Amino acid sequence: MGTTLVADTLENLKPEEVLSTVLGVYTDHAACLTCSFQAEDMIVLDLVRKRVPSIPVLFLETGYHFAQTYAYRDRIAKEWSLNLVNVTPQNTVEQQESELGILYRTDPSRCCQLRKVDPLLHALEPYAIWFTGLRREQSPTRANLKKIEEHRLPGGKALLKVSLLADWSWKQVWEYTGQHQLSYLPQYDQGYLSIGCEPCTAIPDDPANPRSGRWGGKKLECGIHTFSQGGQ
Ligand code: ADX
Ligand code: SF4
Repeated sequence: MGTTLVADTLENLKPEEVLSTVLGVYTDHAACLTCSFQAEDMIVLDLVRKRVPSIPVLFLETGYHFAQTYAYRDRIAKEWSLNLVNVTPQNTVEQQESELGILYRTDPSRCCQLRKVDPLLHALEPYAIWFTGLRREQSPTRANLKKIEEHRLPGGKALLKVSLLADWSWKQVWEYTGQHQLSYLPQYDQGYLSIGCEPCTAIPDDPANPRSGRWGGKKLECGIHTFSQGGQ
């Protein structure tokens, strides 16, 4: 079945139905999931692991995450017996800082490129299906996100990017978390609403704009979701 046909059919389906369709149609495709352990990713992980318990869970280990995030990642990985893959950059934080300085202050785009985008592009190479926790509501840059998109890696390989919660609101995320008694990153209780690397994550002044706490509001995306446009 063609990607466009599948993509159009899926838009009105619930996350479980989208998941079943994707796994049913693309039976011989290797799948992975990128997971920052934010609330959305925990839901996707909860849904996907029931169908594919050994799915590789790719965590972009920038070296700059909150201590609470590392502790939470390790706890969930153990409790859920995850096939956790820590995706690391070429250089350690110490090497990068001694060679290039504190890039998250001087050139955050380059820092994200080196610590998130380049490692992810390399890590995605073996896979054909990529599950994410992206939602349209999160940012104007995500407003046109489809539940299934085709993305092309720089080497030319195409993969299907599947965002089961694309049309969900934050309220739905929080309701699912409560109803399914999922645990969540402790930073949410402190007022954080979108959680990435510690130096680039703040409690947003405006709760209606959750991502305004990321990168001091100076940029909206780190690049891991903009290296290619969906549908290419
Ligand atoms: S980001 O681009 O600004 O960092 P965001 O935090 O909204 O993204 O998360 C959106 C999706 O990007 C997540 O659902 C997850 O698939 C992926 N992602 C973001 N950060 C990481 C990370 N550190 N490790 C793995 N996946 C991540
Ligand atoms: Fe560097 Fe900040 Fe990007 Fe993390 S989010 S890779 S610390 S610039």
